[in-house]
Amino acid sequence: MAGIGFGTWSWGNQLLWGYDPDRDDPELSATLQEAVAGGLALVDTADSYGTGRFNGRSEALLGRILEDCSGELRSRLTVATKLAPFPWRLGRRGFDRAFAASQARLHGHLQRVQLHWSTARYAPWQEGALLDGLADLVDQGRVSELGVSNLGPRRLRALQARLAARGIPLRSVQVQMSLLAPDAIEAGGLKQTCSDLGIELLAYSPLALGVLTVSPGDLPPECTRLRAGLFRRLLPGSEALRAGMAEVAAAHRGSLAQVALNWCRAHGAMPLPGLRRVHQAQDAVAALAWSLSDEERDQLDALALACSARMPANPFMSA
Ligand SMILES: NC(=O)c1ccc[n+]([C@@H]2O[C@H](COP(=O)([O-])OP(=O)(O)OC[C@H]3O[C@@H](n4cnc5c(N)ncnc54)[C@H](OP(=O)(O)O)[C@@H]3O)[C@@H](O)[C@H]2O)c1
Repeated sequence: MAGIGFGTWSWGNQLLWGYDPDRDDPELSATLQEAVAGGLALVDTADSYGTGRFNGRSEALLGRILEDCSGELRSRLTVATKLAPFPWRLGRRGFDRAFAASQARLHGHLQRVQLHWSTARYAPWQEGALLDGLADLVDQGRVSELGVSNLGPRRLRALQARLAARGIPLRSVQVQMSLLAPDAIEAGGLKQTCSDLGIELLAYSPLALGVLTVSPGDLPPECTRLRAGLFRRLLPGSEALRAGMAEVAAAHRGSLAQVALNWCRAHGAMPLPGLRRVHQAQDAVAALAWSLSDEERDQLDALALACSARMPANPFMSA
């Protein structure tokens, strides 16, 4: 059964997540320690996380916190960042400076580098060169693992083959995957490709930005305007799905969030819930203690596939 990791997109993001350093920062270290001590084994960040003057803040906060943790705690965690193929990052050496900057913000606590998205749809000639540059980092021993993100089965096979030709394993692919974004589980979807190729599937936004944590009939939490719009759009159409989740949660004395995370695990994916509060870390850790039965998984699959509400697709996703 796949484990559970966690994500740090909200650390430094005002636009979508309403980041407030005075309110949020003091709890981040305890959140990370609770998560890692409880068995969450991978943390995901990106060099593009943090908005406006908080650009790079997610990596910087994570680096500072990891620097203050014990070596024993750090040794239980894989730290994974994503490098964005911005248009000015060109060719095989295009990520060199970005990688060095991420390393510095993370105080060297970095095991996996991931291509944040492929340029296949708008600058196809860049895709191979940038991937080769990341593979060079592994070859040179500057980072130990390589991952990709926002790829469908076709691009995943192509990138995996390119790396395999150099003898470099592709460790993971992360895509949006949740009960409100279930494409990966459909026949011929990414779940099958990952299992064929032996690549770890990481599920980002497994809680649908929090939509899947709202009990049927409840009001959404206070949040930014952008996120409130998503709640307004998705809550009505997902009422039956969340009612089904609530039944499963009650049977396991768990929460809706735990059901959402365990649905990903039941499909062989490692969910990466976004965490910034200690109670959220505790809830994610509690999900590790139980799993869905096959029958519960099938029931939730049917509700997810029938649900009229769907998360918006990531515009950077390629097929
Ligand atoms: N590769 C990519 O392109 C990509 C894209 C998106 C995300 N990601 C990664 O995936 C991670 C997770 O995705 P995400 O942050 O978009 O969304 P998510 O995990 O679907 O939702 C996270 C939000 O749900 C709420 N939450 C978390 N635990 C909860 C709990 N136990 N009970 C109730 N509410 C809970 C929190 O909101 P409040 O804190 O506001 O309460 C949290 O910020 C990101 O942090 C990032 O690392 C990657």
